Amino acid sequence: MSVAAESTAPAHASVTITNLHKSYGSVEVLKGINMTVEPGQVVCLIGPSGSGKSTLLRCVNMLETPNQGHIQVANHEVTDPDVDINALRQTIGMVFQQFNLFPHLSVLENCTVAQIKVLKRDKAQARDVALKNLAKVGLADKADRFPDQLSGGQQQRVAIARALSMDPQLMLFDEPTSALDPETVGDVLAIMRELADEGMTMLVVTHEMAFARDVADRVVFMDGGVVVEEGTSDQVIGNPQQPRTQDFLSRVLNPTGVGLEES
Ligand SMILES: Nc1ncnc2c1ncn2[C@@H]1O[C@H](COP(=O)(O)OP(=O)(O)OP(=O)(O)O)[C@@H](O)[C@H]1O
Ligand SMILES: [Mg+2]
Repeated sequence: MSVAAESTAPAHASVTITNLHKSYGSVEVLKGINMTVEPGQVVCLIGPSGSGKSTLLRCVNMLETPNQGHIQVANHEVTDPDVDINALRQTIGMVFQQFNLFPHLSVLENCTVAQIKVLKRDKAQARDVALKNLAKVGLADKADRFPDQLSGGQQQRVAIARALSMDPQLMLFDEPTSALDPETVGDVLAIMRELADEGMTMLVVTHEMAFARDVADRVVFMDGGVVVEEGTSDQVIGNPQQPRTQDFLSRVLNPTGVGLEES
């Protein structure tokens, strides 16, 4: 019952991004990004739409190939042409805005299929790991449901359980709550907070400033493909120094401008 995954709790990875450039055609969307995430740290990435946040995350996971620069995740040189992609992808769990669950598989099967195919776990072992992680996200009782029988927030929690079932050393989140009904956002953020408290290394793109403020060890503000400002959440969210950061935060924290006088 207590399977191998219990005894091989993974180390936490670090991430080092050096002078990263990425273009689509003639449009350069990442213009020399430098960033580090220390093992066990939570870094929240904030910035306006189109600033390159998703592209950066996708480069870390090799869903995109950078044009220049280096990314190191744990002992993997992501940007090495000879990198073992499968080994790298096993190190990294990713959770997207759209949950991307397999609609024709049950919740349990969603959490076991990659364990069996990629990690070569046997069915019983994969099931134990999946149920442990479904319990962690509060959904063990939904194991036999199908994704379309769950709320968006529950589907996102399954997506987190699925990622955790691969024993990642690093979790990437790309706006995991922005497609959710407001009343389910808190459940997902609570699980992310718990993961952070357990020491998971996390790189999180989010518009949830309260979450970033409470949970992030560091906040990075990106705009136009560059890092404009970074520091502790108190520094970047509480007391931003750069005009672009100030402008972005005032719009995010008060999107309707209510109470802002034009006088
Ligand atoms: N596959 C692609 N082909 C061409 N251009 C792309 C592609 N993916 C992203 N882009 C462009 O790159 C820029 C950065 O996009 P990206 O999705 O990384 O931004 P973002 O910061 O995640 O924005 P959002 O907050 O809206 O998710 C945008 O101008 C976008 O149109
Ligand atoms: Mg994005």
